[in-house]
Amino acid sequence: MQIKCNNVKYLYNPKDITDKNALNGVSLTIKQGEFVAIVGKTGSGKSTLVQTFNGLLEPTDGYTQVGDFIVTGNKKLKKSLLKTKSKEFIKLNKKQSKLKKVVGLVFQFPEYQLFNETILKDVMFGPKNFGLTNEEAEKISRKTLKEVGIPEDYFDKSPFELSGGEKRRVGIAGIIASQPDILVLDEPTAGLDTNGKKEILDMIEQYHKEGHTIIVVTHDMDLVMERASKVFVLNDGVVIHETTPDKLFNENDLSLYSLEQPAFYKFKKELKEQRFAGDIANIKDVDSLINLIVKSKIHGVKHE
Ligand SMILES: Nc1ncnc2c1ncn2[C@@H]1O[C@H](COP(=O)(O)OP(=O)(O)OP(=O)(O)O)[C@@H](O)[C@H]1O
Ligand SMILES: [Mg+2]
Repeated sequence: MQIKCNNVKYLYNPKDITDKNALNGVSLTIKQGEFVAIVGKTGSGKSTLVQTFNGLLEPTDGYTQVGDFIVTGNKKLKKSLLKTKSKEFIKLNKKQSKLKKVVGLVFQFPEYQLFNETILKDVMFGPKNFGLTNEEAEKISRKTLKEVGIPEDYFDKSPFELSGGEKRRVGIAGIIASQPDILVLDEPTAGLDTNGKKEILDMIEQYHKEGHTIIVVTHDMDLVMERASKVFVLNDGVVIHETTPDKLFNENDLSLYSLEQPAFYKFKKELKEQRFAGDIANIKDVDSLINLIVKSKIHGVKHE
């Protein structure tokens, strides 16, 4: 299922002196099965944008289309968009709550949203809400919890007995258990240690391998470099770059958008400036770069 934003605008607190234009005309397309990162400085509109993907926020103007769902708060526009559509299309758009099943949104710090008395019940909440029987919901929740690395003897514990990283996994499992086609995660690695980060990213990557679309909002440029195949840079509520991570980090002065280049790219740039003789342009990861440097030392490659 594809997501297409058409000139999406979002104004918080309209008709109030505290009104705030968070999105100023975002247009982008995310295709089925992509692993996309959305980056940009604090306040650039990332969280606002992804909340339009599952209809939690309706664009004040413009619209987001997810498959056959049209999300907009502009009633006139919606009416005109639906005018030419089939009966089924119009019927589907009357049940927009169904979009929440298609697009699973994991908020930043999902652990704060755990509320049931046991971990298993917490994860079962979503699938049950989307119409699975108790039995079906339990089956998929047990499977998902195992996949995110929570041992079975934890399932009946209170979520509040878990560590922060474990809670995060349970929070993400709660969304994955509903099997959304599109999984959106807002800052999934914030505040985790290296291991916790890797485990959560591996889990997300596994879901991606099963054919689902992944959209990650993040300030973590290593995550973007290592996992995403496409990146959108947001600035003041508009998309200013749509590119690959490699191009973004090679070609741009990221400090303009308060983003930091991954250490790997800084290092590559330094080597280039020092006229390192090896073929660094085609090196895509840290291990290959280390190998190249070690080899050049062994074989005594001369630098200018
Ligand atoms: N509930 C709200 N009411 C009013 N303004 C808001 C609200 N939420 C966000 N904003 C404003 O909208 C703009 C975009 O906010 P948003 O949370 O989408 O940014 P972000 O890119 O996710 O930032 P961060 O990286 O800090 O999470 C900001 O200027 C913010 O102050
Ligand atoms: Mg945010």
